[in-house]
Amino acid sequence: MNSVPSYVSISWSRDELTIIDQTLLPEKEVYLELTSHRQVWDAIKKLKVRGAPAIGIAGAYGLYLGISPLPENDPALFLHQAEEIASYLNSSRPTAVNLSWALDKIVHKLMRASDLPVATLKKLALQTAMEIHEEDRQLCKRIGESGVALIPDAARILTHCNTGSLATAEFGTAFSVILHAFRQHKLNHVWVDETRPLLQGARLTAWELKKAGIPFSLNIDSAAGFLMQQGEVDLVITGADRIAANGDTANKIGTYSLAVLANRHRIPFYVAAPYSTIDLQIENGNNIEIEMRSADEVSHFGEKKTAPEGIDVYNPAFDITPGELITAIITERGILKPDYSKSIQTYFG
Ligand code: MRU
Repeated sequence: MNSVPSYVSISWSRDELTIIDQTLLPEKEVYLELTSHRQVWDAIKKLKVRGAPAIGIAGAYGLYLGISPLPENDPALFLHQAEEIASYLNSSRPTAVNLSWALDKIVHKLMRASDLPVATLKKLALQTAMEIHEEDRQLCKRIGESGVALIPDAARILTHCNTGSLATAEFGTAFSVILHAFRQHKLNHVWVDETRPLLQGARLTAWELKKAGIPFSLNIDSAAGFLMQQGEVDLVITGADRIAANGDTANKIGTYSLAVLANRHRIPFYVAAPYSTIDLQIENGNNIEIEMRSADEVSHFGEKKTAPEGIDVYNPAFDITPGELITAIITERGILKPDYSKSIQTYFG
């Protein structure tokens, strides 16, 4: 499959990181040119760039943007400042492990090469960011190729949040499986959860599916159970922000409810993610930090207030789906099945 979407979520050229501003979609297709690590931090925090793999890629370029103006006469100071910039970028959003994974990868490379001149270390950081970017494109393509084997003919797939090219270097994770199924004429329909409160399903997945010419309907999140009860859903597939060593998975708020519903209706529930989303340091989902976001996202609909002034709001951005509710985890190296404690270990060799 060689087709490239008519938009690019992240690109790098001449010391500038260009991202499509995902907060303005689908109304406006605006590209932002980021030239400092502070701008990258802000773009990640405000979800201008979002989706676990995409924030890892943006963070990696952000680290390069942060270190490139640093003086080159004191290597020890340079490495110390590089670590500080990495930790600053990592503070933008806590749940998706891809961000710390990408930043750690670059910092470790710099540490291992610390006897090289600082100018060379800077080039090494940029080269690694570009490798992370290109690798993600390949991983996502392979996730689609391996996941399509799980899709029955004439499949009706329900998905949540946005997992497409916008959320990755290209192709997406769960979206890549959907795209491959469509190309192989195995897809009947996609049900798209709108994904309250920030509407990544309505604004972004619907936009990407429409551009790809894939048949879909947009539904409110709370219609998912009714759709399953009516026999309209053959499988559910989502992405992931962090997968613990036992398969427990953090993903967009509402994913856990979908997994419970799928289980109740004996519908397969799949998670698609690259190896960079699996965190072996985290034993189980209880130890994954869940980002809490501002009250305004729930008490307002855009500019319009939809709740009384001054009330308390609960707004976690993610939830944890226990591994026992996940039928399989689709990776670039094939399909992982329960017991995930074992299959994930085997996967990492
Ligand atoms: O808050 P967001 O929009 O960054 O949340 C994104 C998700 O939950 C995605 O499902 C996940 O990152 C997988 S992206 C391929």
